[in-house]
Amino acid sequence: MANDKDTPTVWAVGGGKGGVGKSVISTLIAFWLSRSGKSTVLMDMDLGGANVHTLMGIRNPSRTLNDFVTKKVKSLDDACITSEVDGLKLIVGAGEILSLANPKFAQKIKIIRAVYGLDVDHVILDLGAGASFNILDFFLTAEKQITVVTPQPTSIQNAYAFLRSAVYRRLSQLTSRDPSLMTLIQTAMNPKNELQMRTIKELCHVIEELEGAESVEALKKEIARIRPLVVTNMVRDPNDKNAGRIVQLVAEKYLTIQSDAACGVSYDRQVDRMISEMTPLVQLNRSSRVFSDIHDVCTRMMS
Ligand SMILES: Nc1ncnc2c1ncn2[C@@H]1O[C@H](COP(=O)(O)OP(=O)(O)OP(=O)(O)O)[C@@H](O)[C@H]1O
Ligand SMILES: [Mg+2]
Repeated sequence: MANDKDTPTVWAVGGGKGGVGKSVISTLIAFWLSRSGKSTVLMDMDLGGANVHTLMGIRNPSRTLNDFVTKKVKSLDDACITSEVDGLKLIVGAGEILSLANPKFAQKIKIIRAVYGLDVDHVILDLGAGASFNILDFFLTAEKQITVVTPQPTSIQNAYAFLRSAVYRRLSQLTSRDPSLMTLIQTAMNPKNELQMRTIKELCHVIEELEGAESVEALKKEIARIRPLVVTNMVRDPNDKNAGRIVQLVAEKYLTIQSDAACGVSYDRQVDRMISEMTPLVQLNRSSRVFSDIHDVCTRMMS
């Protein structure tokens, strides 16, 4: 193992809405980690529309995740391709195989196990848009979770909806063997439910009344493990960072999830231009504010 732990530290970058910068931020985090001497795998988990290799300037990848899933290569490590950055490897998404946009349960477990078996310090999972069960499961499996939001109101709504879905997904997994608890959780997922359980706090209250304090404490403990860092991307004005703060406040109030203080990543036209020209993002000018912002995000996540 490359680090002191038995398994790599897995990061997941999600956020619900498409085009908010999940792939840009994942790529730059992976770059930051490898530059700080940590062996890192950047893994494109946008199984429907993989594009991280393009951000790394790779046009025709020789291998993809699909080679691992279909057993063309033996291990996930064999599905990695090297990049121009020392210590940074890439697993290209399997976007061309539509069936993998929605992997079966066994495929998902196989992928998750293999991720934890990689002999590297960090693995960054760049998730696709939306909040499908598969995306949520990869998000929830990660020790370090990042939710990306932009200042647009639709993005704020999506980021909150993503976190809400993640919490309910976790609760559903935990109670899958308890039909009465499961029913309560499914009821609470409808915000207009007749039991008036509109928040996780209210749901917990009802569970406590019906099932006792012990059941609810166990669930609360698990919810507390969801601790995303909310990152506002494409910040052009200091007030734009309020987007992340709003998501954080609402998530705390309605979902009882605590997140670390929100971070921001500046908008830089050069990022836009490089992506259009297919220039590797790691060649971004070192003086770009985006680099110091990513540095803040990473140091916050590492602390
Ligand atoms: N900090 C930034 N500054 C300038 N432009 C940015 C920045 N972040 C992202 N962009 C622009 O937004 C576009 C979308 O970014 P990206 O592909 O990372 O989004 P995404 O959330 O991964 O999208 P999808 O959900 O489709 O995977 C980029 O191609 C780039 O043009
Ligand atoms: Mg993406």
